[in-house]
Amino acid sequence: MPPTLLITGGTGYLGYHLIKLTKSCPTHATFFQTPPPTASPAVFHQCDLSKKDQVHKLIISVKPDVIIHTACSNKSSKEIDAIVPAAHHLSTIAHQRSIKFLHLSTDLVFDGTHAPYQETDLPNPLHPYGKAKTEAEQIVRFHCPAAIIIRSSLMYGIDPLDHQTRWLVRGMDTGEPVRLFTDERRSPIWVHTLAEALLELTKMDFQGILHLAGPETMNRWDFGLAILALLRREAKPNIQPSTIEASGMIRPKDLAFTIDTARQLLKTPLLSISEVTNQLREEKS
Ligand SMILES: NC(=O)c1ccc[n+]([C@@H]2O[C@H](COP(=O)([O-])OP(=O)(O)OC[C@H]3O[C@@H](n4cnc5c(N)ncnc54)[C@H](OP(=O)(O)O)[C@@H]3O)[C@@H](O)[C@H]2O)c1
Repeated sequence: MPPTLLITGGTGYLGYHLIKLTKSCPTHATFFQTPPPTASPAVFHQCDLSKKDQVHKLIISVKPDVIIHTACSNKSSKEIDAIVPAAHHLSTIAHQRSIKFLHLSTDLVFDGTHAPYQETDLPNPLHPYGKAKTEAEQIVRFHCPAAIIIRSSLMYGIDPLDHQTRWLVRGMDTGEPVRLFTDERRSPIWVHTLAEALLELTKMDFQGILHLAGPETMNRWDFGLAILALLRREAKPNIQPSTIEASGMIRPKDLAFTIDTARQLLKTPLLSISEVTNQLREEKS
């Protein structure tokens, strides 16, 4: 019998893409404040994951074999506040009930001064979001030692546009200045690749931390131009290169990831943005 999946954050960007791929198994998903889609392959449940009683009620009613915990990102301080309690309640009950637990984390657990980062490198987050995600990782490791903690990087996609690309395209359309940092390096991952890899991981014995990101590290300016090229758009003059330094912000500069373990472990190809571009063009022609 196929395993029953529970995807937290089914109304989020990654959650949406995961649900699209899970047709072969019974899939449940959570939402909190965003109304779920009326037609979806998943059964949606409203749950505030920061509340222990709501999490327990959910798990008792859904009885999942696997939880992919994508919920709680950096969109608001309320979401950041929910990161630690949600990780605590879910990882504890997953361990108690022998539920396979996949926990999404981020490259922002690092400070950007010692790239490229391996799974064994020690986090040193700079901001509340990275700090909450670091604490959540520690809680998950303690309460559910068999969990897989997946640290990912910027996820991008075009159907629909990811959060960052939507901001960039909005800037192109409105003419408002958009500044992209040339001194911030990340390893962006195609959201479809990430979703496929996560589903592959649900069937594996791996446990512990895994860096799952794209194969190339790019600065935010080059990445922005590559995304616009993927969308067959040319950058307008209001899209400008800039630096973290000039912005006065404090941000991790180089979050290049070492993804050797993920490459050895997974059959899912970790595509570069040029491979994604070629694949999409082939599909269209
Ligand atoms: N986006 C990236 O580039 C990126 C990069 C690295 C790692 N990650 C990690 O990947 C995961 C998914 O990110 P994403 O961008 O897909 O997230 P997202 O689009 O911002 O979605 C966040 C989800 O969390 C849910 N949520 C927030 N607070 C909640 C609460 N108290 N109880 C229940 N659900 C709650 C939201 O539900 P409602 O909308 O229904 O309220 C929404 O479904 C996150 O864990 C993030 O840290 C993301």
